[in-house]
Amino acid sequence: MIIAIDGPSAAGKGTIGRALALKLGLHYLDTGSLYRMVGFEVMRNNADPADSQACASIAQSLNVGSFNDADLRGEKVGSFASQVAALPQVRHALLKFQRDFAAQKPGAVLDGRDIGTVICPDADYKFFITASVDARARRRALESPSTEIAAIKAEIEARDARDSNRNVAPLKPAADAVIIDTSDLSADEVLTRVLSVIQP
Ligand code: DC
Repeated sequence: MIIAIDGPSAAGKGTIGRALALKLGLHYLDTGSLYRMVGFEVMRNNADPADSQACASIAQSLNVGSFNDADLRGEKVGSFASQVAALPQVRHALLKFQRDFAAQKPGAVLDGRDIGTVICPDADYKFFITASVDARARRRALESPSTEIAAIKAEIEARDARDSNRNVAPLKPAADAVIIDTSDLSADEVLTRVLSVIQP
């Protein structure tokens, strides 16, 4: 069983993906972390996030087990991740790892931007989890109380625009995805909705 969860940043994909995988006994992959690993390495090596050759070579030699989760969080790495994610060579370098992960028994939940459209177009279930920019900014502000909410909102909008307008695998719902707006829903309510689709 493969469950694809796509959507913009801070919409609640990770929370739902993890809870769903736990509940159904499936593997879970946050594919954004792969792009964050590439972004983090680009940043650390002072490489140019627009240099497709340099970024692809980092993506090809990524040792996914070697990163500290805390280093990957934060909007700065997120912004680098979003820039390298627009490069087709980087996306190509990360494709096999994601497809192999999805093929594991007994199944997997993957969250990202292009899981239902590109990585697993034949997924058994596809969800597009979204929320208003204000709701997402409020959630991010709870995680980093020292940052101005207006700044968080601007970063989210910039990342949405880059992820949605790129030429390759842009952020968009698959034609057969169930769209859930989580702006006014708790994590439990979202999980209940998702489960009602999978186990009607
Ligand atoms: O989900 P996230 O915020 O951790 O993702 C970081 C960036 O990685 C995001 O801005 C776009 C990119 N990304 C992508 O292009 N495709 C994915 N499947 C996952 C993330």
